[in-house]
Amino acid sequence: MAAEFSWEAQACNVEHFKETVAAWKGRKGALMPILQDAQITFGYLPRQILEWTAKELNTPIAELYGVATFYSQFSFEPLGKYNISVCQGTACYVKGAEKLQDDFCDALGIEAGGTSEDGLFSLVETRCVGECSLAPVVSVNGEMYPHFTKKQIKPLLKKLRSAEVMDD
Ligand code: FES
Repeated sequence: MAAEFSWEAQACNVEHFKETVAAWKGRKGALMPILQDAQITFGYLPRQILEWTAKELNTPIAELYGVATFYSQFSFEPLGKYNISVCQGTACYVKGAEKLQDDFCDALGIEAGGTSEDGLFSLVETRCVGECSLAPVVSVNGEMYPHFTKKQIKPLLKKLRSAEVMDD
């Protein structure tokens, strides 16, 4: 279960975000840059931040959710430490990326777009990452794994988990 958003723990980020909102308030097309800033600042769009922003901008919250759900760059849950994406662009898709993503879901016990219970792994939706000749491509926090196969899933997760143990 993801930790609940805390205004106190995020005080610095909140302060930065409020400055962004103040800078954009009243300007045309403000919603997108404000949401992008929230996503970067908090790593996701906390419900409390969306509610606060809607009041501040005097905009219905449904409008914020409307924009945020339309673009895959936004997420409503904190992401895991390792963001795994199985490219779903055309070249990867024809090389079995959809099945590969399902295999990752099974291995992690989560849905695409979800985060594992321990908060370590998120499966992030991605379209072409520009390495089509290496399809299917998996990336972990931006590091590419070319010609990825189902057999590599367990060793990869094991390697990332053991890196965690060593970090402790
Ligand atoms: S479609 Fe996957 S890298 Fe281009």
